[in-house]
Amino acid sequence: MSQTAQAPIEAPERTQHLRRYLMCRPEHFTVSYSINPWMEPANPTDTALAVRQWQKLYDTYIELGHTIELIDPQPGLPDMVYTANGGFLIDGVAYPPKFRYEERQGEESWFTQWFRDHGYEVRGPESMNEGEGDFLLAGDVVLAGRGFRSSDDSHRELARIFDREVISLTLVDPRFYHLDTALSVLDPVVAPGETPTIAYLPGAFDDDSRRILEERFPHAIRVSDADGSVFGLNSASDGKHVFISPRATGFEQQLRERGYTPVLIDLSELLLGGGGIKCCTLELRGAER
Ligand code: ARG
Repeated sequence: MSQTAQAPIEAPERTQHLRRYLMCRPEHFTVSYSINPWMEPANPTDTALAVRQWQKLYDTYIELGHTIELIDPQPGLPDMVYTANGGFLIDGVAYPPKFRYEERQGEESWFTQWFRDHGYEVRGPESMNEGEGDFLLAGDVVLAGRGFRSSDDSHRELARIFDREVISLTLVDPRFYHLDTALSVLDPVVAPGETPTIAYLPGAFDDDSRRILEERFPHAIRVSDADGSVFGLNSASDGKHVFISPRATGFEQQLRERGYTPVLIDLSELLLGGGGIKCCTLELRGAER
């Protein structure tokens, strides 16, 4: 009997790792300014619908056993629902954001105070950065987006603060202005030295960055433009369940083939602000109080 390269690869069994996330109910959500191509202040928004859709994401996380912490929404800060931009945290150390646009700078002190109140050691920031919107922990390394929001200096500052290798990736398509709109880490926990599975939209990156991704993540899932364009990659994962937009049907299939369980959550109203599932989800690592 001959073994051929065409032999079907069996999808591995995936293991859930319980997460702790920070979220912010979109009570003050609206689109009153435009700082990304998705935001159209002339189009009406439905805050009640945004809250209902967000609540569904919250309830689903809870049902699956995750711990959700909440930060109070503040009037006049409609983008605060996108907590992924609120910081980057590892082992009880929090690196707060320094937003590029004035419209969001009012959020900085609220997030910083929340981290202090919850036992995190706050370090930095000196440089412009938008938290987990542009920084994603992938095993031992941090993948860091540049080009639209977070500065190159922030990549260096992050490497210094967390003493980790930071891999800078250049975003080139204004629709995918944060790294978390174009790339998703599917395994939040891996053994030391092991490489997690990631998924990404190749067209969102420049040639050099695509080369780096191919080299470092040869088994990555590459998603189609169609799935990327509906924010399919703006997803959260506990290692087994991957929370994605119901419109990313191709990505949903790719995830099943790899043994993951897609969980479909529609945040269409929050997409009017240019954000999706991952944007509403900040991973809290360490400092359990
Ligand atoms: N309106 C927000 C902004 O432009 C959306 C942020 C989305 N967040 C994210 N993590 N990608 O800043």
